[in-house]
Amino acid sequence: MEQHPIWKGKWTVLLAATGSAVGLGNIWLFPYKVGEYGGSAFVLVYLAGVLIMGVPLMISEITIGRFTRMSPFNAVTKLSENSRVPGAWRLLGFIPHIGSCTILTFYAVIAGWALLYMVHMATGGVFGSIQVAEESAAAFSRLQADPLTMIFYHTLFMAATIFIVAKGVIAGLEKSINWMMPLLFVMVICLLIYSMFSGQFMRSLEFLFTPDWSKINGESVSFAIGQAFFSLSLGMGSIITYGAYMAKEGDIAKTGTAVSLLDMLLALCMGLVVFPVVFSFGLEPNSGPGLIFESMPLAFGSLPLGNLFGTVFFALVAVAALSSSISLLEPTVALLEERTSLKRWKIAALVGGAIWLAGFSVVLSFNVWQDVHILPGKNIFDTLDYIVSNIMLPLGGLVTALWMGWLMKPSDARNELGLGPQWFGVLHTMVRYVSPVLLFLVLFTSLGIIQF
Ligand code: PHE
Repeated sequence: MEQHPIWKGKWTVLLAATGSAVGLGNIWLFPYKVGEYGGSAFVLVYLAGVLIMGVPLMISEITIGRFTRMSPFNAVTKLSENSRVPGAWRLLGFIPHIGSCTILTFYAVIAGWALLYMVHMATGGVFGSIQVAEESAAAFSRLQADPLTMIFYHTLFMAATIFIVAKGVIAGLEKSINWMMPLLFVMVICLLIYSMFSGQFMRSLEFLFTPDWSKINGESVSFAIGQAFFSLSLGMGSIITYGAYMAKEGDIAKTGTAVSLLDMLLALCMGLVVFPVVFSFGLEPNSGPGLIFESMPLAFGSLPLGNLFGTVFFALVAVAALSSSISLLEPTVALLEERTSLKRWKIAALVGGAIWLAGFSVVLSFNVWQDVHILPGKNIFDTLDYIVSNIMLPLGGLVTALWMGWLMKPSDARNELGLGPQWFGVLHTMVRYVSPVLLFLVLFTSLGIIQF
C-alpha cells in the first residue's frame, strides 16, 4: 500500500480540519435551524453537543487517522486486526465513504446556488438587485425551476473540487487551504463589522443567547446534536483522513479542541452576521432553508453598500463550501489510492465525476422530478438529506467511538495522543461510554424508535 504524504506546514492540519468543518453547515444550516427551532435553546444544546461529544470525537478521529496513516475504511480494518471483531463488522468502515460521497452529491448543488448569487451580487444581476419580498421568493423559486442554470453552477463547483483534490495532498489541498482559510477569516470579520452597524446586533445577541427552556424537547435536542455533528465534519471520514496526513510532532488534543471551538465560534459569528441583517429588514428568522438565499439578498438589496457586502457574503459561502467539499472527496480518493494502482487524478476524476452525475438527480428533484419520492413524502434531495443526517452521521460517529473506545489498544491511543493519564482517562471514558449512548439516543430518536 502506498504511503500518503505529510502536511508540510505546521498549521495546515488545523486550517484544513477547520476548513472542512466550517461550511454550509455553519452559514446555511446553523442560522436557519436556530431560526426554526426557537433561537437560544437550540444554540445552548448545540454548544453542549460540541463540548461533550464533538471535542472527544474530533480528537479520536485525528488519533485514528494519524495512528493508522490510512483512509477510514483501511484505518478501521487495521484497528480491527488485533481484535476478535468478526470480519463483517469491518464493513462498517465503508460508512464514512458512502456518507461523504452522498453529502457531496447535494452539497455541491447548494454550493452552486451560492456561486450564482455571488456572481449576481457582483454584477448587479437579477439575484443581486432584489427590492421586494415577493420578488426575492419568486427569484429563488425561478432558480429552483431552472435545472440548466443549477447544473451550470453545480458543474463549476464540482470541477473546482475535483481539480484541487486531483492535484494531490500538498500541491492541491494544502496549497488551496493556505489561501482559502485566511480569506475566509477576513471575510467573516468584514461581515461582522458590517452587521454590527446594521442596527439590530443587540437583538440578535439576545435571540441567540437568552435561553427559553420551554422550547427544548427530544426533537430539538436530537437536531441540535445532529447539527453539531454535521458542522464538525464528524463521522464522515474527513477528519480521519486529514489526521492521516498530520506530522508526528503535532499535538492532536490541542488541534482537535481548537478545530471544534473555531467551528463553534464561526457558527455563532454567522448567526451574528445573518440575524442582524434579517431583523433590520423586519424579516422573520424562521423562513427555513431559503433563509440565506431569500432573506439575505432582499436585505442586501436595500442596505447601504449592500451589493459589495452581498458579494462578500456569498463569496464566503462559496469558499467555505469549497474547503469542505475537498474534504468530502478526499477520503474515498485516498482509499482508492491505497487499494488500486490508478493515478490520483484518474481516481479524483472518476469518483468526482460519479458524484457530479449523481448531483443531477438532486438538481432535478427541485423541478422535473419534484414528485419522484424515494422515501414516503420525500423527494430525492430530502431522502439523501434524511439518510445522511439521521442514519449515516450517527452511525459514522458510532464507528469512531467504538473503534477508538473499544478496539484501539488504550496504550496505543495514549501514546499517539501524548496525554497524561488523567486527561486520557477523561477522554477515553467520554468516547467509550458517553458518546455511544448519546449517539444511539440520537439515532433512535431521529428514526422515531423512541420519543421523549
Ligand atoms: N462540516 C461541513 C459543514 O459544516 C460539512 C461536512 C460534513 C464536511 C462532513 C465534511 C464531512 O458544512
